[in-house]
This record gives sequence, C-alpha cells and structure tokens, in this order.
Amino acid sequence: MMSTPLVQVHHIRKSFGPIEAVRDVSFALGPGEIFGLLGPNGAGKTTTVRIMTGSMRPDAGRVTIGGDEISPTTPRVRARLGVVPQQITVYDELTARDNLRFWGRLYGMGGAFLDGRIDELLAMVGLDGRAKDRVATYSGGMKRRLNLCMGLIHRPKVLVLDEPTLGIDPQARLLLLERVRALAAEGTAVLYTTHYLEEAESICARIAIIDHGTVLAMGTMDELLRMVHHRELIRLHGAFDPANTFLERIPGLRVVSRETHSVALEPIGDAPLPALLSALLENLPGVAGIAVERPTLQSLFIQLTGRELRE
Ligand SMILES: Nc1ncnc2c1ncn2[C@@H]1O[C@H](COP(=O)(O)OP(=O)(O)OP(=O)(O)O)[C@@H](O)[C@H]1O
Ligand SMILES: [Mg+2]
Repeated sequence: MMSTPLVQVHHIRKSFGPIEAVRDVSFALGPGEIFGLLGPNGAGKTTTVRIMTGSMRPDAGRVTIGGDEISPTTPRVRARLGVVPQQITVYDELTARDNLRFWGRLYGMGGAFLDGRIDELLAMVGLDGRAKDRVATYSGGMKRRLNLCMGLIHRPKVLVLDEPTLGIDPQARLLLLERVRALAAEGTAVLYTTHYLEEAESICARIAIIDHGTVLAMGTMDELLRMVHHRELIRLHGAFDPANTFLERIPGLRVVSRETHSVALEPIGDAPLPALLSALLENLPGVAGIAVERPTLQSLFIQLTGRELRE
C-alpha cells in the first residue's frame, strides 16, 4: 500500500561516546502503512524514534515529514506527528481526562471538541470507566493505554509507537493491535517498534530488522522470508553440554545457533529430513524435544546475527 512517502529517514547516525547507537538507518513510510522496526534490546530503535520525532538531533542524516525537515518546534510537523514513547509520560497526580485535556491544549485544542475527542479515545482503550480517577491509581498497563491516547489526541497523520504493548495483558494487546490496524486503514502512517517477532509479523506491512544500529534486512514478510536460506530449521530442546562438539559434526546439518537448552540446526545438502531426524535421535544424548520449524522471521534473525531474538 506504499504511495508517496510521508516520512523519509535518510542515512541517520547517532553515537553516544563510543556507542554507535544508530549507524546508518534509512527508510520511508507511506500513508496507511504500518512499518515495523524489529530488534533486540539496545538495537537502536528508541534512538531512531527520538531522531525521527525531532526530540534528538542526529550526528548525520535527515528526516522529513510531508516534505518538511523534522523539527519539533515547527507547528506543521508537530500537528502531523503523534508520538507514544517507550517511557510513559503521564502525570500521576492528574486524572486521565485532565492528562488528555492538558495534552490536547498543547495542540491548540479545547472546549467541547476536545472533550468529545477525549471521550472517544478513552472508550477506544477501555478506560472510559476510570476517566475521573487519578492516574496514580492506575495499573502499569492502564497507564500505557492512556499513553497511547495522548499520542492520538490531535489525529496525527504519522503515528510513532515505541514498544506500545510492553507490560499490557494479552487482551489489551489484541485490542491495541486492532486499533492500530484501524488507524492505518484510515490512512495513518504508523512506525511500530517492537522486539516481539509475532507482533511485527502480525501487524506490519513492512519490517526493518535492526541490530547494533544497523538495518540488517528490510521488506515485506514475503520478501524477508525469501531471504532465509534454509528450507526448515531443526530445533532441539534439552540439555546440551557446551563442551560436546558432536552437534558440529553431524553430517548434513549445520548449527546456526546454540544455547545450553536450545539448538537450531539447518539442513545442508539434499539428505531427506526423516533420515536426518532419526540420525539425530539415535546419536545425540540429552534431547528432550525436537521440532521442525518453517522459515520465520526468527530464522532470518538467526541467519543474520547467529543469535536468537527472544520474545
Ligand atoms: N542518552 C543516551 N546516552 C548514552 N547511551 C545511550 C543513550 N540512549 C541510548 N543509548 C545507547 O544506545 C544504544 C541503543 O539504545 P536504544 O534505546 O536506541 O535501543 P532500543 O533498540 O530502543 O532498545 P530497547 O529494546 O531496550 O528499548 C544502547 O547501547 C544504549 O545504551
Ligand atoms: Mg527502546
């Protein structure tokens, strides 16, 4: 559904002393598109988000939104952009409604128009029953849902969500994903950062896999899965002695990731899978479980980094 890019992130870089948090990240985001930044802790997602939303200056590169260079003080850019930061930014001493009123006024909203919008948003995230309670009395997940409302108050054309489902229960997560899909269907461009593979797979039209500040792969799910070399992965669960090199010497299989309790092996050559599996079971002590996995984003992540991306 890619049309004219609404957001363009162009070769951005950012270091903190010796840490290169973002090394050279570029992507474009079109109206109605949900674009995922998927990567483990410390990959550079939040730094990318901060630069993209103008709250941090890059060392190099630039970001445009609707053709305008990003700057949080430009009213045109501010009006177009809604941000839901990873760090929750609600005032504990205020009620949900007063938090949203305060936020709405920063965008020049007010009166019945603002109150109507607030009712709509609180109902959307299922907080309408708690609107008059001080946020200090909310659970973590409820605060996160309120945080989402703050990013949406002014109906931004571009919505940036930094790990929006962190700490919310499965039901609230499904609800949130559904709302984000609906916003995209109305034309909102969404940047969605997460370290949950399943979330990225289920909601994003395109995904950039990011690690150590670098985009390792980018594309639609189909495109990304086509980058996976192997037909399938054989996953062993059990207890594997790191000193035992047996795994590395199995003919027809290559170890792609190895941990004490989980090993992933990739078939190489043409040996049929059943033969490989029975050879494994006969020869390898400590196997408690065995599974054959079709290529997934996890397989691609392992292929690119030699590590697992944990949920
Ligand atoms: N203000 C800062 N000062 C120093 N180092 C920083 C700062 N912000 C981020 N970093 C470092 O930059 C790297 C990337 O951090 P960033 O927060 O962008 O990662 P992330 O992908 O959002 O991770 P997470 O999934 O944990 O939120 C990390 O090594 C982090 O320690
Ligand atoms: Mg982060």
